[in-house]
Amino acid sequence: MILLSSSAVPQEPARAGAGSGQLIFNNACRTCHTTKEGDNRLGPNLHNIIGRKAGSLPNFGYSSAMKGADFVWDTGKLDSFIAKPDEVVPGNNMKPYGGLASAEDRTKLIAFLQSTSD
Ligand code: HEC
Repeated sequence: MILLSSSAVPQEPARAGAGSGQLIFNNACRTCHTTKEGDNRLGPNLHNIIGRKAGSLPNFGYSSAMKGADFVWDTGKLDSFIAKPDEVVPGNNMKPYGGLASAEDRTKLIAFLQSTSD
């Protein structure tokens, strides 16, 4: 009788969870943002960002571009903004920020942001 070697069974790839999204956040966003309510740094806090109106925190000094942006952040808006901020809110003040080109990284990052919200 021949036993199947375990290498014949493909390993289930590790599920991309909020953990790797947190790493991406730490690398790309944490210099300027936290996910804690009320904790604004160089950038506004991103607590409950999904479902929040753009440029709406009362105690953060937004650019007039962000203040005037007339939409609510959803996952699609966030994805485009994180890729190319100026295409979503032209004239915004989120700089220096080069954009996150990898769609996979953006998806993980957005899952992380969702996981830190109420
Ligand atoms: C160099 C600092 C910096 C980095 C890095 C940065 N941001 Fe920002 N971010 C800002 C600033 C400043 C603003 C406010 C922009 C304005 O008023 O035009 C902002 C605004 C935002 C907003 C709009 C918030 C609101 O209240 O409407 C979101 C969403 C956002 N950033 C997400 C991110 C994410 C996600 C990352 C990482 C991928 C990131 N930012 C990286 C500085 C930064």
